[in-house]
Amino acid sequence: MNIPLVDIQERYRRNKTSIDMVVQEVMAGGQYILGANVEALEREIAVYLGCRYAIGVASGSDALTLSLMALGIGQEDEVITTPYTFFATAGSILRVGAKPVFVDISPDSYNLNPALLQKNITSRTRAIIPVHLFGQVAEMDSILKIASSCNLAVVEDACQAIGAEYKGKKAGTLGDTGCFSFFPTKNLGCMGDGGLVTTNDEKLARKIRSLRTHGSEKKYFHETAGLNSRLDEIQAAILRIFLKHLDEDNSRRKRAARLYEYYLQNTPCLLPRRNPESTHVYHLFVLLHPRRDLLKEQLLNKQIGCGIYYPLPLHLQKVFSSLGYKKGDFPVAESIAETSLALPMYPGLTEEDISLITQVLQEID
Ligand SMILES: Cc1ncc(COP(=O)(O)O)c(C=O)c1O
Repeated sequence: MNIPLVDIQERYRRNKTSIDMVVQEVMAGGQYILGANVEALEREIAVYLGCRYAIGVASGSDALTLSLMALGIGQEDEVITTPYTFFATAGSILRVGAKPVFVDISPDSYNLNPALLQKNITSRTRAIIPVHLFGQVAEMDSILKIASSCNLAVVEDACQAIGAEYKGKKAGTLGDTGCFSFFPTKNLGCMGDGGLVTTNDEKLARKIRSLRTHGSEKKYFHETAGLNSRLDEIQAAILRIFLKHLDEDNSRRKRAARLYEYYLQNTPCLLPRRNPESTHVYHLFVLLHPRRDLLKEQLLNKQIGCGIYYPLPLHLQKVFSSLGYKKGDFPVAESIAETSLALPMYPGLTEEDISLITQVLQEID
């Protein structure tokens, strides 16, 4: 048996003819960066998400950094986020020279716990970055309410949640900006690096567009120091093909999640809980198990992919040591980091695969 954690080539196999064709077209066309495909992708994603502006950038990490830069966040400022996320969320705060302030997560959703926000807001707080972890939208109503009452910006890290909805609105369209990653393993992933920022604010959109090309609106005239963070034409052309299949792929992920739920009832596995306000697009299917390490070993022995997202919460990472956090500061994040395991999840996962995977889990009590 060989079932990967993510089947990274599946999308290519399904769309080989059209991908090969668009790649050749771009190569022959000679416009390799920020051309017609990037513009079309930006329009198509804005329509898909239901927002006014979408700006293609080089990665999800840059989408976060550019959002903070456009909001004018920098030294002396504090930005609140979760310690249980991929490094880039908090890394972007450091990159603009601001201070990350971590707040623990809810045990149900693994997302930022809004009840803990208020007491972490100081006169220096400028923004909150909620992360829609594993594909489920954070509790945005409460987060937006607190942000608005304290005059804080909200930058949504929607890198893992493209297509997920919160009360009928798409993830990444609820805050001041939404940040997406097109890293190949993502629900909408390209064949290299890529990312996107969304916003409904015209001024922010203009700033982000300028910041992605070294802070210039007119070539060789620079108003601010931006980044080189442009999206390639080849990646945009491929993403336009994959975007057409995104909803169907997300539905197949949801079906796989339901099958896991079915096969894993009556086991000690604590399954991802669904927030009734949000749909879940299962970028990852992460369960909790008291004997996680044994589970991982048994799965790997049988050539079943699995992974730990994330083994060390951010407040305990060396890079953030100067912030002075210590073990015990965020008990929920720490306990989830010790017990969580991601099982294989991708649109092509079959019921037979899930039955085989869950047999291994059923054998462990
Ligand atoms: C939650 C989260 N934020 C940010 C990123 C950064 O995206 P990228 O790898 O495209 O820079 C990722 C993806 O890796 C992510 O999962």
